[in-house]
Amino acid sequence: MTIRVLKSDPLKHSTDLLAVAVFEGEKKLRGLAAEIDKSLGGILSSLIQDEGFKGKERETLLAQTHGRIGAKRVLFVGLGKEKNFTTDSARQAAALTVKRAHEYAAKSVSFSVGKALRASAMRFNERARAITEGVLLGSYHYTTYHGQETKDEHEKRRAEEVILLAPDALSTKQIEAGIAEGQLNAEAAIFARDLVNAPASDMTPQHLVDVAKDIAGKSKRISLEVFDEKEARKRGMGAFLAVAKGSDIPPYFIHLTYKPKAKKTKKVFLVGKGITFDSGGLSLKPSKNMESMKNDMAGGAAVLAVFYKLDELQPKVEVHGVIPCTENMPSGRAVKPGDIARAMNGKTIEILNTDAEGRVALADALSFAVKEGADTIVDLATLTGSCIEALGEEVAGLFGNSRQLTKQLTTAAENAGEYVWEMPMVKEYQPLIKSKVADIKNIGDGRGAGSITAALFLKEFIGETPWAHLDIAGPAWAEKETFPSVPLGATGFGVRTLIMFLKSLR
Ligand code: BES
Ligand code: ZN
Ligand code: ZN
Repeated sequence: MTIRVLKSDPLKHSTDLLAVAVFEGEKKLRGLAAEIDKSLGGILSSLIQDEGFKGKERETLLAQTHGRIGAKRVLFVGLGKEKNFTTDSARQAAALTVKRAHEYAAKSVSFSVGKALRASAMRFNERARAITEGVLLGSYHYTTYHGQETKDEHEKRRAEEVILLAPDALSTKQIEAGIAEGQLNAEAAIFARDLVNAPASDMTPQHLVDVAKDIAGKSKRISLEVFDEKEARKRGMGAFLAVAKGSDIPPYFIHLTYKPKAKKTKKVFLVGKGITFDSGGLSLKPSKNMESMKNDMAGGAAVLAVFYKLDELQPKVEVHGVIPCTENMPSGRAVKPGDIARAMNGKTIEILNTDAEGRVALADALSFAVKEGADTIVDLATLTGSCIEALGEEVAGLFGNSRQLTKQLTTAAENAGEYVWEMPMVKEYQPLIKSKVADIKNIGDGRGAGSITAALFLKEFIGETPWAHLDIAGPAWAEKETFPSVPLGATGFGVRTLIMFLKSLR
Protein backbone atom coordinates (compact mmCIF):
# COMPACT_ATOMS: atom_id res chain seq x y z
CA MET A 1 0.00 0.00 0.00
CA THR A 2 1.35 3.40 -0.91
CA ILE A 3 0.14 6.61 0.66
CA ARG A 4 0.82 9.89 -1.05
CA VAL A 5 -0.40 13.42 -1.47
CA LEU A 6 -1.82 14.86 -4.65
CA LYS A 7 -2.91 18.40 -5.40
CA SER A 8 -6.11 17.77 -7.23
CA ASP A 9 -9.75 18.73 -7.45
CA PRO A 10 -11.68 16.07 -5.50
CA LEU A 11 -14.55 16.32 -8.01
CA LYS A 12 -12.35 15.46 -10.98
CA HIS A 13 -9.99 13.07 -9.24
CA SER A 14 -10.38 9.48 -10.38
CA THR A 15 -10.50 6.85 -7.63
CA ASP A 16 -12.43 3.74 -6.55
CA LEU A 17 -13.54 5.34 -3.32
CA LEU A 18 -13.57 8.96 -2.25
CA ALA A 19 -13.99 9.48 1.48
CA VAL A 20 -15.80 12.63 2.49
CA ALA A 21 -15.95 13.58 6.14
CA VAL A 22 -19.23 14.91 7.50
CA PHE A 23 -19.90 16.40 10.91
CA GLU A 24 -22.94 15.35 12.90
CA GLY A 25 -25.99 17.53 13.20
CA GLU A 26 -25.49 19.80 10.21
CA LYS A 27 -28.72 20.99 8.66
CA LYS A 28 -27.28 21.11 5.18
CA LEU A 29 -24.36 19.49 3.45
CA ARG A 30 -21.51 21.93 3.12
CA GLY A 31 -18.09 22.20 1.56
CA LEU A 32 -16.99 19.30 -0.59
CA ALA A 33 -20.00 17.19 0.37
CA ALA A 34 -22.32 19.90 -0.97
CA GLU A 35 -20.32 20.23 -4.18
CA ILE A 36 -20.44 16.50 -4.81
CA ASP A 37 -24.14 16.44 -4.08
CA LYS A 38 -24.68 19.18 -6.63
CA SER A 39 -22.66 17.33 -9.27
CA LEU A 40 -24.73 14.22 -8.61
CA GLY A 41 -27.98 16.13 -8.98
CA GLY A 42 -28.90 15.97 -5.28
CA ILE A 43 -28.74 12.16 -5.01
CA LEU A 44 -26.63 12.40 -1.89
CA SER A 45 -28.94 14.64 0.08
CA SER A 46 -31.91 12.45 -0.71
CA LEU A 47 -29.92 9.31 0.14
CA ILE A 48 -28.94 10.88 3.45
CA GLN A 49 -32.62 11.60 4.13
CA ASP A 50 -33.69 8.07 3.21
CA GLU A 51 -30.99 6.30 5.17
CA GLY A 52 -31.16 8.63 8.15
CA PHE A 53 -27.42 9.31 7.99
CA LYS A 54 -26.53 11.70 10.79
CA GLY A 55 -22.77 12.02 10.54
CA LYS A 56 -22.30 10.30 13.89
CA GLU A 57 -18.93 8.84 14.77
CA ARG A 58 -18.43 5.40 13.15
CA GLU A 59 -21.32 6.03 10.75
CA THR A 60 -20.77 5.63 7.01
CA LEU A 61 -22.88 5.93 3.88
CA LEU A 62 -21.92 4.70 0.44
CA ALA A 63 -23.11 6.10 -2.87
CA GLN A 64 -22.30 5.12 -6.45
CA THR A 65 -21.57 8.09 -8.66
CA HIS A 66 -22.21 6.49 -12.07
CA GLY A 67 -19.40 8.45 -13.60
CA ARG A 68 -20.79 11.87 -12.81
CA ILE A 69 -17.68 12.79 -10.87
CA GLY A 70 -14.14 11.38 -11.01
CA ALA A 71 -14.68 8.93 -8.12
CA LYS A 72 -16.49 5.64 -8.67
CA ARG A 73 -17.97 5.68 -5.18
CA VAL A 74 -18.33 8.26 -2.47
CA LEU A 75 -18.20 7.22 1.16
CA PHE A 76 -19.60 9.67 3.67
CA VAL A 77 -17.85 9.16 6.97
CA GLY A 78 -19.32 10.59 10.14
CA LEU A 79 -16.99 12.56 12.39
CA GLY A 80 -19.41 13.16 15.24
CA LYS A 81 -20.18 16.62 16.57
CA GLU A 82 -17.83 19.31 15.42
CA LYS A 83 -17.24 20.60 18.94
CA ASN A 84 -16.02 17.15 20.01
CA PHE A 85 -13.67 16.78 17.08
CA THR A 86 -10.13 15.68 17.90
CA THR A 87 -7.20 14.37 15.92
CA ASP A 88 -8.40 10.92 16.82
CA SER A 89 -11.77 11.55 15.13
CA ALA A 90 -9.86 11.88 11.86
CA ARG A 91 -7.71 8.83 12.65
CA GLN A 92 -10.76 6.66 13.37
CA ALA A 93 -12.69 7.95 10.36
CA ALA A 94 -9.73 7.04 8.16
CA ALA A 95 -9.46 3.60 9.72
CA LEU A 96 -13.18 3.00 9.19
CA THR A 97 -12.85 4.08 5.56
CA VAL A 98 -10.14 1.51 4.80
CA LYS A 99 -12.23 -1.15 6.51
CA ARG A 100 -15.12 -0.32 4.17
CA ALA A 101 -12.72 -0.18 1.23
CA HIS A 102 -11.60 -3.69 2.19
CA GLU A 103 -15.23 -4.86 2.06
CA TYR A 104 -15.75 -3.33 -1.37
CA ALA A 105 -12.26 -4.42 -2.49
CA ALA A 106 -11.59 -0.84 -3.60
CA LYS A 107 -8.02 -0.70 -4.84
CA SER A 108 -7.66 3.05 -4.68
CA VAL A 109 -8.96 5.19 -1.84
CA SER A 110 -8.76 8.96 -1.60
CA PHE A 111 -9.30 11.38 1.24
CA SER A 112 -10.02 15.02 0.97
CA VAL A 113 -7.78 16.67 3.55
CA GLY A 114 -8.93 20.15 2.71
CA LYS A 115 -12.25 21.79 3.23
CA ALA A 116 -14.08 19.01 4.97
CA LEU A 117 -12.09 19.64 8.10
CA ARG A 118 -11.81 23.37 7.65
CA ALA A 119 -13.44 24.14 10.97
CA SER A 120 -10.87 22.33 13.03
CA ALA A 121 -7.78 24.06 14.26
CA MET A 122 -5.73 21.02 13.29
CA ARG A 123 -2.88 21.77 11.00
CA PHE A 124 -2.54 19.92 7.74
CA ASN A 125 0.39 17.80 8.87
CA GLU A 126 -1.43 16.70 11.97
CA ARG A 127 -4.49 15.73 9.94
CA ALA A 128 -2.35 13.87 7.45
CA ARG A 129 -0.48 12.05 10.23
CA ALA A 130 -3.74 10.99 11.87
CA ILE A 131 -5.28 9.83 8.58
CA THR A 132 -2.15 7.90 7.65
CA GLU A 133 -2.04 6.20 11.04
CA GLY A 134 -5.73 5.35 10.77
CA VAL A 135 -5.29 3.88 7.30
CA LEU A 136 -2.30 1.70 8.21
CA LEU A 137 -3.38 0.67 11.70
CA GLY A 138 -6.96 0.01 10.63
CA SER A 139 -5.95 -2.25 7.75
CA TYR A 140 -3.70 -4.42 9.93
CA HIS A 141 -4.26 -8.17 9.77
CA TYR A 142 -2.10 -10.67 11.62
CA THR A 143 -1.56 -13.32 8.97
CA THR A 144 1.86 -14.76 9.90
CA TYR A 145 0.44 -18.15 10.82
CA HIS A 146 -2.21 -18.26 8.12
CA GLY A 147 -1.90 -20.20 4.90
CA GLN A 148 -1.08 -18.56 1.60
CA GLU A 149 -4.73 -18.50 0.57
CA THR A 150 -5.78 -16.30 3.49
CA LYS A 151 -2.78 -14.07 2.97
CA ASP A 152 -3.62 -13.68 -0.71
CA GLU A 153 -7.25 -12.94 0.08
CA HIS A 154 -6.22 -10.05 2.33
CA GLU A 155 -3.72 -8.81 -0.22
CA LYS A 156 -6.35 -8.92 -2.92
CA ARG A 157 -8.73 -6.72 -0.97
CA ARG A 158 -6.16 -4.34 0.44
CA ALA A 159 -6.17 -0.90 -1.14
CA GLU A 160 -3.07 -0.45 -3.25
CA GLU A 161 -3.07 3.26 -3.37
CA VAL A 162 -4.22 5.77 -0.79
CA ILE A 163 -4.21 9.40 -1.80
CA LEU A 164 -4.61 12.46 0.37
CA LEU A 165 -5.98 15.28 -1.74
CA ALA A 166 -4.40 18.63 -1.00
CA PRO A 167 -6.12 21.93 -1.77
CA ASP A 168 -2.94 23.88 -2.57
CA ALA A 169 0.84 23.83 -2.77
CA LEU A 170 1.50 24.88 0.82
CA SER A 171 -0.71 22.20 2.29
CA THR A 172 0.85 19.66 -0.06
CA LYS A 173 4.19 20.07 1.72
CA GLN A 174 2.62 19.84 5.15
CA ILE A 175 0.57 16.82 4.17
CA GLU A 176 3.65 15.10 2.83
CA ALA A 177 5.44 15.62 6.14
CA GLY A 178 2.39 14.36 8.03
CA ILE A 179 2.21 11.21 5.91
CA ALA A 180 5.85 10.44 6.68
CA GLU A 181 5.28 10.88 10.41
CA GLY A 182 2.14 8.78 10.33
CA GLN A 183 3.88 6.05 8.40
CA LEU A 184 6.73 5.88 10.90
CA ASN A 185 4.33 5.78 13.84
CA ALA A 186 2.07 3.15 12.35
CA GLU A 187 4.89 0.92 11.16
CA ALA A 188 6.37 0.99 14.65
CA ALA A 189 3.05 0.10 16.28
CA ILE A 190 2.51 -2.69 13.75
CA PHE A 191 5.98 -4.04 14.51
CA ALA A 192 4.94 -4.33 18.17
CA ARG A 193 1.59 -5.92 17.26
CA ASP A 194 3.34 -8.63 15.27
CA LEU A 195 5.64 -9.45 18.18
CA VAL A 196 2.81 -9.61 20.70
CA ASN A 197 0.43 -11.59 18.49
CA ALA A 198 2.99 -14.36 17.98
CA PRO A 199 2.48 -17.46 20.14
CA ALA A 200 4.54 -17.58 23.32
CA SER A 201 6.39 -20.76 22.37
CA ASP A 202 7.79 -18.96 19.34
CA MET A 203 8.14 -15.50 20.87
CA THR A 204 10.70 -16.61 23.45
CA PRO A 205 13.33 -14.53 25.24
CA GLN A 206 15.82 -15.83 22.66
CA HIS A 207 13.57 -14.60 19.87
CA LEU A 208 13.32 -11.14 21.44
CA VAL A 209 17.12 -11.09 21.61
CA ASP A 210 17.25 -11.98 17.90
CA VAL A 211 14.89 -9.10 17.14
CA ALA A 212 17.06 -6.72 19.18
CA LYS A 213 20.17 -8.02 17.35
CA ASP A 214 18.52 -7.40 14.04
CA ILE A 215 17.64 -3.82 14.99
CA ALA A 216 21.12 -3.07 16.36
CA GLY A 217 22.76 -4.76 13.37
CA LYS A 218 21.02 -2.43 10.93
CA SER A 219 22.02 0.78 12.68
CA LYS A 220 25.29 2.58 13.30
CA ARG A 221 23.83 4.45 16.25
CA ILE A 222 22.29 1.53 18.10
CA SER A 223 24.32 -0.92 20.15
CA LEU A 224 23.18 -3.99 22.04
CA GLU A 225 24.20 -5.76 25.23
CA VAL A 226 22.57 -9.03 26.21
CA PHE A 227 23.04 -10.59 29.62
CA ASP A 228 22.46 -14.31 29.89
CA GLU A 229 21.64 -15.99 33.18
CA LYS A 230 25.27 -16.19 34.25
CA GLU A 231 25.96 -12.53 33.53
CA ALA A 232 22.70 -11.46 35.18
CA ARG A 233 23.74 -13.38 38.29
CA LYS A 234 27.15 -11.70 38.28
CA ARG A 235 25.41 -8.35 38.19
CA GLY A 236 23.22 -9.22 41.13
CA MET A 237 19.91 -9.48 39.29
CA GLY A 238 18.44 -11.89 41.81
CA ALA A 239 14.88 -10.66 41.38
CA PHE A 240 14.76 -11.13 37.61
CA LEU A 241 16.41 -14.55 37.96
CA ALA A 242 13.91 -15.63 40.62
CA VAL A 243 11.11 -15.12 38.09
CA ALA A 244 13.07 -17.06 35.46
CA LYS A 245 13.76 -20.08 37.69
CA GLY A 246 10.71 -22.09 36.72
CA SER A 247 11.23 -21.88 32.97
CA ASP A 248 13.00 -24.50 30.90
CA ILE A 249 14.19 -21.93 28.38
CA PRO A 250 16.90 -19.39 29.15
CA PRO A 251 16.10 -15.83 30.22
CA TYR A 252 17.85 -12.83 28.68
CA PHE A 253 18.24 -9.26 29.81
CA ILE A 254 18.30 -6.88 26.84
CA HIS A 255 19.97 -3.48 26.89
CA LEU A 256 19.85 -1.37 23.71
CA THR A 257 21.55 2.02 23.42
CA TYR A 258 20.90 4.71 20.82
CA LYS A 259 23.45 7.51 20.64
CA PRO A 260 22.39 10.74 18.93
CA LYS A 261 24.77 12.92 16.91
CA ALA A 262 25.08 15.46 19.68
CA LYS A 263 27.35 14.51 22.55
CA LYS A 264 26.42 15.28 26.15
CA THR A 265 22.72 14.71 26.00
CA LYS A 266 20.26 13.41 28.55
CA LYS A 267 19.87 9.66 28.95
CA VAL A 268 16.29 8.49 28.60
CA PHE A 269 15.63 4.90 29.63
CA LEU A 270 12.65 3.04 28.19
CA VAL A 271 12.01 -0.09 30.22
CA GLY A 272 9.57 -2.77 29.06
CA LYS A 273 8.20 -5.83 30.85
CA GLY A 274 9.28 -8.84 28.80
CA ILE A 275 7.44 -11.81 30.27
CA THR A 276 6.99 -13.92 27.13
CA PHE A 277 4.39 -16.04 28.88
CA ASP A 278 2.83 -15.50 32.30
CA SER A 279 1.31 -18.72 33.59
CA GLY A 280 1.41 -17.26 37.08
CA GLY A 281 4.16 -19.68 38.11
CA LEU A 282 3.35 -21.83 41.16
CA SER A 283 0.61 -19.30 41.98
CA LEU A 284 -0.88 -20.65 38.77
CA LYS A 285 -3.46 -18.65 36.88
CA PRO A 286 -6.85 -20.19 36.08
CA SER A 287 -6.85 -21.84 32.66
CA LYS A 288 -9.61 -19.61 31.32
CA ASN A 289 -8.03 -16.97 29.06
CA MET A 290 -4.53 -17.99 30.06
CA GLU A 291 -3.62 -17.86 26.37
CA SER A 292 -3.86 -14.10 26.47
CA MET A 293 -0.80 -14.06 28.73
CA LYS A 294 1.42 -14.24 25.67
CA ASN A 295 0.83 -10.49 25.71
CA ASP A 296 2.85 -10.08 28.88
CA MET A 297 5.82 -8.87 26.83
CA ALA A 298 3.81 -6.04 25.25
CA GLY A 299 5.81 -3.43 27.18
CA GLY A 300 9.06 -4.93 25.91
CA ALA A 301 7.65 -5.15 22.39
CA ALA A 302 6.79 -1.44 22.53
CA VAL A 303 10.36 -0.61 23.49
CA LEU A 304 11.73 -2.76 20.64
CA ALA A 305 9.28 -1.12 18.24
CA VAL A 306 10.55 2.34 19.18
CA PHE A 307 14.15 1.20 18.63
CA TYR A 308 13.12 -0.23 15.27
CA LYS A 309 12.40 3.36 14.18
CA LEU A 310 14.98 5.35 16.15
CA ASP A 311 17.38 5.77 13.23
CA GLU A 312 14.63 7.41 11.24
CA LEU A 313 13.25 9.34 14.18
CA GLN A 314 16.64 10.72 15.21
CA PRO A 315 15.71 11.95 18.66
CA LYS A 316 18.04 14.46 20.26
CA VAL A 317 18.58 12.43 23.41
CA GLU A 318 20.44 9.24 24.21
CA VAL A 319 17.82 6.49 24.37
CA HIS A 320 18.25 3.24 26.24
CA GLY A 321 15.96 0.25 26.00
CA VAL A 322 15.91 -2.26 28.84
CA ILE A 323 13.87 -5.46 28.66
CA PRO A 324 14.07 -8.30 31.16
CA CYS A 325 12.90 -11.29 29.12
CA THR A 326 11.73 -14.56 30.63
CA GLU A 327 8.77 -16.87 30.95
CA ASN A 328 6.97 -17.18 34.27
CA MET A 329 6.39 -20.92 34.67
CA PRO A 330 5.67 -23.46 37.41
CA SER A 331 8.11 -26.34 37.76
CA GLY A 332 10.17 -28.26 40.30
CA ARG A 333 12.74 -25.50 40.07
CA ALA A 334 10.32 -22.58 40.19
CA VAL A 335 10.45 -19.80 42.75
CA LYS A 336 8.10 -20.60 45.63
CA PRO A 337 5.73 -18.37 47.55
CA GLY A 338 7.67 -17.24 50.60
CA ASP A 339 11.02 -17.18 48.81
CA ILE A 340 13.13 -14.07 49.17
CA ALA A 341 15.05 -12.59 46.25
CA ARG A 342 17.68 -9.86 46.30
CA ALA A 343 17.47 -7.21 43.58
CA MET A 344 20.41 -5.44 41.98
CA ASN A 345 20.02 -2.38 44.23
CA GLY A 346 20.41 -4.62 47.29
CA LYS A 347 16.79 -4.61 48.39
CA THR A 348 15.25 -7.93 49.34
CA ILE A 349 11.83 -8.98 48.05
CA GLU A 350 9.53 -11.48 49.69
CA ILE A 351 7.73 -13.21 46.84
CA LEU A 352 4.34 -14.10 48.27
CA ASN A 353 2.56 -14.53 44.96
CA THR A 354 4.57 -15.75 42.01
CA ASP A 355 1.95 -14.27 39.67
CA ALA A 356 3.01 -10.76 40.68
CA GLU A 357 6.20 -11.42 38.70
CA GLY A 358 6.33 -8.35 36.48
CA ARG A 359 7.26 -5.98 39.29
CA VAL A 360 9.90 -8.47 40.50
CA ALA A 361 11.56 -8.67 37.07
CA LEU A 362 11.26 -4.90 36.66
CA ALA A 363 12.93 -4.35 40.06
CA ASP A 364 16.22 -5.32 38.44
CA ALA A 365 15.52 -3.53 35.16
CA LEU A 366 14.79 -0.27 36.99
CA SER A 367 17.77 -0.71 39.35
CA PHE A 368 19.92 -1.26 36.26
CA ALA A 369 18.63 1.93 34.61
CA VAL A 370 19.36 3.94 37.75
CA LYS A 371 22.83 2.42 38.04
CA GLU A 372 23.57 3.29 34.40
CA GLY A 373 22.93 6.94 35.20
CA ALA A 374 19.47 7.44 33.73
CA ASP A 375 18.19 11.03 33.70
CA THR A 376 14.65 9.91 32.96
CA ILE A 377 13.01 6.50 33.16
CA VAL A 378 9.73 5.49 31.53
CA ASP A 379 8.53 1.93 31.96
CA LEU A 380 5.70 0.12 30.22
CA ALA A 381 4.24 -3.03 31.68
CA THR A 382 1.17 -5.21 31.46
CA LEU A 383 1.43 -5.14 35.21
CA THR A 384 -1.88 -5.57 37.00
CA GLY A 385 -5.41 -6.84 36.49
CA SER A 386 -6.25 -4.17 39.07
CA CYS A 387 -5.50 -1.44 36.59
CA ILE A 388 -8.17 -2.93 34.31
CA GLU A 389 -10.57 -2.93 37.27
CA ALA A 390 -9.83 0.75 37.81
CA LEU A 391 -9.69 2.13 34.28
CA GLY A 392 -11.13 -0.56 32.02
CA GLU A 393 -9.63 -2.08 28.90
CA GLU A 394 -8.92 1.07 26.93
CA VAL A 395 -7.01 3.24 29.36
CA ALA A 396 -3.49 2.87 30.69
CA GLY A 397 -2.68 3.87 34.23
CA LEU A 398 0.05 6.47 34.46
CA PHE A 399 2.13 6.73 37.62
CA GLY A 400 5.28 8.61 38.46
CA ASN A 401 7.37 10.64 40.84
CA SER A 402 7.65 13.72 38.64
CA ARG A 403 4.72 15.91 37.71
CA GLN A 404 6.63 17.35 34.78
CA LEU A 405 7.28 13.90 33.33
CA THR A 406 3.74 12.58 33.80
CA LYS A 407 2.45 15.78 32.16
CA GLN A 408 4.81 15.29 29.21
CA LEU A 409 3.58 11.74 28.80
CA THR A 410 -0.04 12.79 29.06
CA THR A 411 0.49 15.28 26.26
CA ALA A 412 2.37 12.72 24.17
CA ALA A 413 -0.47 10.21 24.64
CA GLU A 414 -3.04 12.82 23.62
CA ASN A 415 -1.09 13.54 20.46
CA ALA A 416 -0.92 9.83 19.77
CA GLY A 417 -4.63 9.29 20.42
CA GLU A 418 -3.94 6.82 23.22
CA TYR A 419 -5.81 7.03 26.52
CA VAL A 420 -3.74 7.34 29.65
CA TRP A 421 -4.90 8.57 33.03
CA GLU A 422 -2.71 9.64 35.89
CA MET A 423 -3.19 7.67 39.07
CA PRO A 424 -2.10 8.80 42.54
CA MET A 425 1.01 7.44 44.23
CA VAL A 426 -0.68 7.33 47.62
CA LYS A 427 2.16 7.20 50.14
CA GLU A 428 -0.22 5.97 52.85
CA TYR A 429 -0.47 2.70 50.90
CA GLN A 430 3.27 2.10 51.17
CA PRO A 431 2.87 0.08 54.42
CA LEU A 432 0.69 -2.39 52.45
CA ILE A 433 3.82 -3.76 50.78
CA LYS A 434 5.97 -3.89 53.92
CA SER A 435 7.32 -7.35 54.61
CA LYS A 436 8.09 -8.86 58.01
CA VAL A 437 11.04 -10.83 56.70
CA ALA A 438 12.38 -8.75 53.79
CA ASP A 439 12.59 -5.10 52.72
CA ILE A 440 9.42 -5.34 50.68
CA LYS A 441 6.86 -7.92 49.56
CA ASN A 442 5.50 -8.35 46.07
CA ILE A 443 1.77 -8.10 46.82
CA GLY A 444 -0.28 -5.67 48.87
CA ASP A 445 -2.32 -6.46 51.96
CA GLY A 446 -6.04 -6.72 51.63
CA ARG A 447 -8.19 -5.46 48.81
CA GLY A 448 -8.07 -2.61 46.37
CA ALA A 449 -5.47 -0.25 44.96
CA GLY A 450 -3.57 -3.12 43.34
CA SER A 451 -2.21 -1.04 40.50
CA ILE A 452 -1.06 1.62 42.98
CA THR A 453 0.70 -0.79 45.30
CA ALA A 454 2.40 -2.28 42.22
CA ALA A 455 3.60 1.20 41.22
CA LEU A 456 4.75 1.88 44.78
CA PHE A 457 6.70 -1.36 44.62
CA LEU A 458 8.46 -0.22 41.44
CA LYS A 459 9.25 3.13 43.02
CA GLU A 460 11.40 1.32 45.60
CA PHE A 461 13.90 0.65 42.83
CA ILE A 462 13.99 4.17 41.44
CA GLY A 463 15.26 6.56 44.08
CA GLU A 464 15.21 10.18 42.95
CA THR A 465 15.42 9.77 39.19
CA PRO A 466 12.39 11.24 37.36
CA TRP A 467 10.34 8.19 36.49
CA ALA A 468 6.97 7.34 34.98
CA HIS A 469 5.24 4.00 34.74
CA LEU A 470 2.50 3.05 32.31
CA ASP A 471 0.38 0.07 33.36
CA ILE A 472 -0.84 -1.15 29.96
CA ALA A 473 -2.53 -4.38 31.14
CA GLY A 474 -5.83 -3.22 29.64
CA PRO A 475 -5.06 -1.48 26.36
CA ALA A 476 -2.19 -3.74 25.22
CA TRP A 477 -4.73 -6.27 24.02
CA ALA A 478 -8.10 -5.75 22.33
CA GLU A 479 -10.90 -8.19 23.17
CA LYS A 480 -13.49 -5.95 21.51
CA GLU A 481 -13.20 -3.76 18.50
CA THR A 482 -13.68 -0.42 20.22
CA PHE A 483 -11.63 1.61 17.75
CA PRO A 484 -11.54 1.08 13.98
CA SER A 485 -7.79 1.68 14.15
CA VAL A 486 -7.31 -1.16 16.66
CA PRO A 487 -8.17 -4.62 15.32
CA LEU A 488 -8.62 -7.52 17.77
CA GLY A 489 -5.53 -8.88 19.49
CA ALA A 490 -2.30 -7.01 20.08
CA THR A 491 -2.75 -3.26 19.80
CA GLY A 492 0.77 -1.84 19.85
CA PHE A 493 -0.39 0.45 22.63
CA GLY A 494 2.24 2.82 23.96
CA VAL A 495 4.50 2.77 20.92
CA ARG A 496 3.15 5.99 19.44
CA THR A 497 2.98 7.67 22.84
CA LEU A 498 6.67 6.89 23.37
CA ILE A 499 7.55 8.21 19.93
CA MET A 500 5.61 11.44 20.48
CA PHE A 501 7.31 11.72 23.88
CA LEU A 502 10.81 11.33 22.43
CA LYS A 503 9.99 13.88 19.75
CA SER A 504 8.95 16.37 22.40
CA LEU A 505 12.35 16.20 24.13
CA ARG A 506 14.90 18.83 23.23
N1 BES B 1 0.52 -10.07 33.70
C1 BES B 1 -0.34 -9.95 34.81
C2 BES B 1 -1.26 -8.74 34.73
C3 BES B 1 -2.28 -8.74 33.61
C4 BES B 1 -3.57 -9.12 33.86
C5 BES B 1 -1.92 -8.32 32.35
C6 BES B 1 -4.50 -9.08 32.83
C7 BES B 1 -2.84 -8.30 31.33
C8 BES B 1 -4.14 -8.68 31.57
C9 BES B 1 0.48 -9.82 36.09
O1 BES B 1 1.70 -10.46 36.09
C10 BES B 1 -0.33 -10.42 37.17
O2 BES B 1 -0.60 -11.58 37.12
N2 BES B 1 -0.69 -9.60 38.16
C11 BES B 1 -1.48 -10.03 39.23
C12 BES B 1 -0.94 -9.44 40.50
C13 BES B 1 -1.56 -9.98 41.75
C14 BES B 1 -1.16 -11.41 41.95
C15 BES B 1 -1.10 -9.13 42.92
C16 BES B 1 -2.91 -9.55 38.99
O3 BES B 1 -3.09 -8.43 38.53
O4 BES B 1 -3.83 -10.32 39.25
ZN1 ZN C 1 1.51 -12.52 36.69
ZN1 ZN D 1 2.57 -10.74 34.23
